[in-house]
Amino acid sequence: MLPISRRTQSLGTEHAFVVLAEVNKLTDEGRSIISFAIGQPDFVTPGHIMDAAKTAMDAGHTGYTASAGIPELRSAVAEYLASTRGIKVAAKDVTVANGAKPFIQYAILATTDYGEGHEILYPTPGFPIYESQIAASGAVGVPLPLLERESYSFDLNFLQDRLSPRSRLLILNSPHNPTGRTLLKEELEKIAEIVAPYPDLWIFSDEIYSQMVHDGEFVSIASIQGMTERTIIVDGASKSYAMTGWRLGYAANSTLAPYFSTWITNTDSCAGSITQWAGVESLTGPQDEHRRMMKSFTERRNLIVEGLNQLEGVRALKPGGAFYVWPNVSELCRMTGAENAEDLRRRWLYEAGVAVLADRQFGTPPAGEGHHIRFSYATSEDNIREGLERIRHWIVQAKS
Ligand SMILES: Cc1ncc(COP(=O)(O)O)c(C=O)c1O
Repeated sequence: MLPISRRTQSLGTEHAFVVLAEVNKLTDEGRSIISFAIGQPDFVTPGHIMDAAKTAMDAGHTGYTASAGIPELRSAVAEYLASTRGIKVAAKDVTVANGAKPFIQYAILATTDYGEGHEILYPTPGFPIYESQIAASGAVGVPLPLLERESYSFDLNFLQDRLSPRSRLLILNSPHNPTGRTLLKEELEKIAEIVAPYPDLWIFSDEIYSQMVHDGEFVSIASIQGMTERTIIVDGASKSYAMTGWRLGYAANSTLAPYFSTWITNTDSCAGSITQWAGVESLTGPQDEHRRMMKSFTERRNLIVEGLNQLEGVRALKPGGAFYVWPNVSELCRMTGAENAEDLRRRWLYEAGVAVLADRQFGTPPAGEGHHIRFSYATSEDNIREGLERIRHWIVQAKS
């Protein structure tokens, strides 16, 4: 057989897509599945954004754009980031790509070198693409456990211990996938203090859920004194404007913007031109639809957290943002003989008709943390009620 590189063979995946394929197969076979697996809004993109895309097509905006993005969008993003983060952002600091995801790779490649022992600290549990891209890039991954006893914030002592002169990138993600934890200003200030003695350390602040905070206010680490320059802010349209399939993300950092732009020239050439015009409208047009979706996500959060906590053997903290909840199911595993969360996930899918993701799909679970499941509540209240009822029924059967 012709050889496949170790780099390619080492690539991980985003299990939401694997489970989605499994769910689609079962649905095609006529099974009824309530899915809490995929992290995307169940709403359609607001009409005025679609209209902007149609207008762009009619105006003939169908060619390549500058790799960094159209000036109108870079300006709109700069204004949006400056006003929501309370910092200065210029249009030239902004780069636009086909989603927030590509910036994970660009940032790793822009800040670390292969084989040099450059370290990247990343949250675990966490978005699985961080770990996968770190390994593929030849950097050294240093997992930072997020613990239930700290309500899934960082163990700051651990962060302090793991930093070294080899550290090049610290990945933060708030609001967080999969726990829904939103980092508070005081926590970010402490992180800023801890990283201050490390001048070679960049921060990758994955803020894709910044507009999806249920309680309190979103705070970016970029807005903490002394952190703007070293922080790569990453945000995008996927979650806030129900635009996952359009592919639109943006990053801001004054030093790295030209390098990101060169990476884009080397990969995608530019983000989709029609999508970019839709992106301008998403940020500069009316925000009522976004607010309506967010109100609905908050109501769903309240419903699912309450419902989960009524299930025997399940314990769920109330997430502050995004649309995920990360209940502890250790006791339920014990009661029903499930080996771990992955075993539970499989049994729920095939025996109860409920699709979720298991903790190991977000990295190796930290020692002593027990077993967790991720529910995405980007689904209707009826589905949430029905899904929880199916699980409740399954528990009764599994116990007997
Ligand atoms: C933490 C996190 N970062 C990045 C992304 C990717 O977003 P995008 O659709 O903009 O590429 C996701 C999507 O699920 C996510 O959860």
